[in-house]
Amino acid sequence: MAGLRVKNLKKSFGTNTVVDNISFEVKEGEFCILLGPSGCGKSTILRLIAGLEFQNEGEIFIGEKEVSSLTPKERDVAMVFQSYALYPHMTVYENMAFPLTIKKTPKQKTRQKVIEAARLLNIEGLLDRKPAELSGGERQRVAIGRAIVRNPKIFLFDEPLSNLDAKLRSSMRVELAKLHQKLGTTMLYVTHDQTEAMTLGEKIILLEGGKIQQIGTPKEVYEKPLNLFAATFIGSPQINLIEGKLITEGGKTLFQSERFSIELDPEEELKKYSGSRITIGIRPESLNPGDGPIQGYLEVIEHLGSETIIYLKSGDARLIARAPSDFQGKAGDRISLSVNPRKIHCFYNGTRISRQD
Ligand SMILES: Nc1ncnc2c1ncn2[C@@H]1O[C@H](COP(=O)(O)OP(=O)(O)O)[C@@H](O)[C@H]1O
Ligand SMILES: [Mg+2]
Repeated sequence: MAGLRVKNLKKSFGTNTVVDNISFEVKEGEFCILLGPSGCGKSTILRLIAGLEFQNEGEIFIGEKEVSSLTPKERDVAMVFQSYALYPHMTVYENMAFPLTIKKTPKQKTRQKVIEAARLLNIEGLLDRKPAELSGGERQRVAIGRAIVRNPKIFLFDEPLSNLDAKLRSSMRVELAKLHQKLGTTMLYVTHDQTEAMTLGEKIILLEGGKIQQIGTPKEVYEKPLNLFAATFIGSPQINLIEGKLITEGGKTLFQSERFSIELDPEEELKKYSGSRITIGIRPESLNPGDGPIQGYLEVIEHLGSETIIYLKSGDARLIARAPSDFQGKAGDRISLSVNPRKIHCFYNGTRISRQD
């Protein structure tokens, strides 16, 4: 087991720079998520770390050792792909044993390792089957098992759950979290799914366009997004963004849009932007039916059982708010919303200007 560190990593394909001066660290034993939309360079970063691709600039360290010029085998990392990449003509046992077989590991030891991994993944009963005789979830377990038997220093997962249906995905998420607790191995996990990132990760590295947008715990990136990209990419339903002007008046700091005015938390930092156009972000759970500054009309009501999500229109702005499960209301009703001023995120030119405790 070892930690991982990449420093000023850069990769271009022709003139297209897809990994742009990226630096981050994954601590020994940490479950770290690389999160970002499709095409932002996630797989390329994993491939660079695994040695399947070579960077144009920068360095990669596994533990204390620089591995940038080593072959994939010498790096001692195991990668699990979305596509499983199992050998169709081999049984589950043979697939899982494969990395040890090519290393000419003694049969007895191989057997022991395969059984151990199969037990961990609950697939002992499937060892004689061929991949075609397995469900998607079972195949993905086999692919993970094949990585486990290698006992790598680091696991790299590239969207391993993307091909599974929603229900299976959420149960596999729990399995993966348990697996990490049991193995304690350093894991770097790629996904475009913010829910997966929020639930699995101890640390999230958020990427867009080959650049890091924010690094933090799930709580930090959710509660203190550093820019509009981070604010909108994380959180479901999405954060509400409203444009307007920041003004200071009689000791108060106000946000004024076309339709309403909200008193903000009186932060010193915000006062500097008095008179400027800013964007505020309010998460749906911080916007609730009740006495407050925002008025609108209900458009759609979603009863989810444990809560109600309401969609409303306020002037030109469309907003999403969270309401209790017993919320009464129908499309067309007039409604007012209250906002917690401490939960308003302020951005100037796309960058966060409000702090949050
Ligand atoms: N071998 C390659 N040759 C040229 N362009 C590539 C190659 N691999 C990836 N790219 C490009 O690099 C960008 C990032 O790709 P990728 O790392 O696969 O993104 P992600 O995994 O985040 O979806 C994409 O625009 C993709 O088209
Ligand atoms: Mg990818």
